[in-house]
Amino acid sequence: MILITGGAGYIGSHTVIELINAGYDIIVYDNFSNSSHEAIKRMEQIAGQPIKVVDADIKDKAKLRETFKNYSINAVIHFAGLKAVGESMQKPLKYYNNNISGSICLFEIMSEFGCKKIVFSSSATVYGEPRSLPISENFPLSATNPYGRSKLFIEDILRDIAISDNGWKILLLRYFNPVGAHTSALIGEDPNGIPNNLMPFISQVAVGKREYLSIFGDDYDTPDGTGVRDYIHVVDLAQGHLKALQKIDDIQGTVAVNLGTGKGYSVLDMVGAFEKASGKKISYKIVKRRLGDIAVCYANPSFAKEFLGWEAKLDLAKMCEDTWRWQSKNPKGYDTIHQA
Ligand code: NAD
Ligand code: WQD
Repeated sequence: MILITGGAGYIGSHTVIELINAGYDIIVYDNFSNSSHEAIKRMEQIAGQPIKVVDADIKDKAKLRETFKNYSINAVIHFAGLKAVGESMQKPLKYYNNNISGSICLFEIMSEFGCKKIVFSSSATVYGEPRSLPISENFPLSATNPYGRSKLFIEDILRDIAISDNGWKILLLRYFNPVGAHTSALIGEDPNGIPNNLMPFISQVAVGKREYLSIFGDDYDTPDGTGVRDYIHVVDLAQGHLKALQKIDDIQGTVAVNLGTGKGYSVLDMVGAFEKASGKKISYKIVKRRLGDIAVCYANPSFAKEFLGWEAKLDLAKMCEDTWRWQSKNPKGYDTIHQA
C-alpha cells in the first residue's frame, strides 16, 4: 500500500490515477485545506473504483500512527504542503509550520513503523537564481522566499535522515511548472481566489472569469522580453511518480531528479498557444515585474531519462487543450456539476 499525502490536490490527484492504472493499492491522506472532496469523487469515477481516504492533517501524529497501524504502508509519496509563494512571504510561520513541522511528523511516524521509502515533492524553486541554463541536479541550491526555503529545508532534513540511517530510500523530485489537466476533464487545477500562477490565470481570462492577464514585465533578457519557464503536463509529471516508485527499491540514500521537459516558453508563447487551443482571445496588459521572479528557468531533463527511464511526452498544444477542456467544462472548478 502506498500512502499519498496531499493526494486530493492538483498533482496528487493525477498521480493517484496513474498509480491505480498501474495496479498499485493506494490510500490518500489529506486535510482538504486546498482541495475538495468532489475531487475524490471524480477520481473514483475515472479509476472505476473507490479510493481510500484519511481526512487528516500530517501534523496529527496520532492520526498518522493510526493510519500506519491500519494499513501496511510500503512507501509514501509526500505531496502535502502549502505552495503559494506570495502568501508564504506574508505568513512565513504558517508555511514553516505546515510544510516543515508537518513533514517532520510524517518522517517520525514513518521511522516508527520502519517505512523508509519516500518520494518527496520538491521544486525547481530550490535552484534559486540559476547560474546557467539548462538547470541540472548538481547546481547550487538556494531559496528566495519562505515557501522555497521550506522545500530546501525538507530536502536537507531528508538528506540528514539518509546519512543517519542507510536503510532510507529517498527520491527528491524537483518539478518545474506543472500545467494541464486529465484528458477526461474530470480533474484539474482549481485554485482558490485569484490564481498566482500563469496557466490558471490565462484559462480564467479565456472562460470570461477575469478581464485580462497582467504580464509581469516585458523587459527581461529573453527573446520577447517576457519570462521563460519549463511548463510540464501534469499527466507526464504523474507518470514520473510512477517511474519513481518503480525505481525506489534500487536506490540508497537520497537522489534528486528534475521533472521538466527541457523546453522554455515565454509568457507570450503561452498566451498564443492558449488562444489557439481555446479559440478565445486572451487580453493582456504589461505591468511591472513581480518581485522575486527570475527571467528564465528550464530543466536539463537528461538525468530523469537515464535514471528513471522517464521523459515528458505531451507538448504545449496538448497542455493548453487539456487545461481549456477542464476550465471550460468546470468554469467554477469543483463547484460545478460536471456536464459530459
Ligand atoms: P495542491 O495544493 O493542489 O495539493 C496539496 C495538497 O496537500 C492539498 O490537497 C492540500 O489540501 C494538502 N495539504 C496541505 N497541507 C496539508 C497538511 N498539513 N496535512 C494534510 N494535507 C495537507 O498543490 P499541488 O500543486 O498539487 O502541489 C503538490 C506538491 O508539489 C506541493 O508540495 C507543492 O509544494 C509541490 N510543487 C508544486 C508545484 C506547482 O506549481 N503546482 C511546483 C513544484 C512543487
Ligand atoms: C510563470 C511566468 C511570471 C502570472 C511558481 C513558483 C515555483 C513553482 C511553480 C511550486 C513568470 C509570469 C505569472 C501572471 C505573469 N511552485 N506571470 N502573470 O513563478 O515560475 O513558479 O510556480 O514549487 O516555486 O514560484 O510560475 O506560473 O507564477 O509564473 O506574467 O499573472 O508567468 O512572471 O514569468 P513561477 P508562475
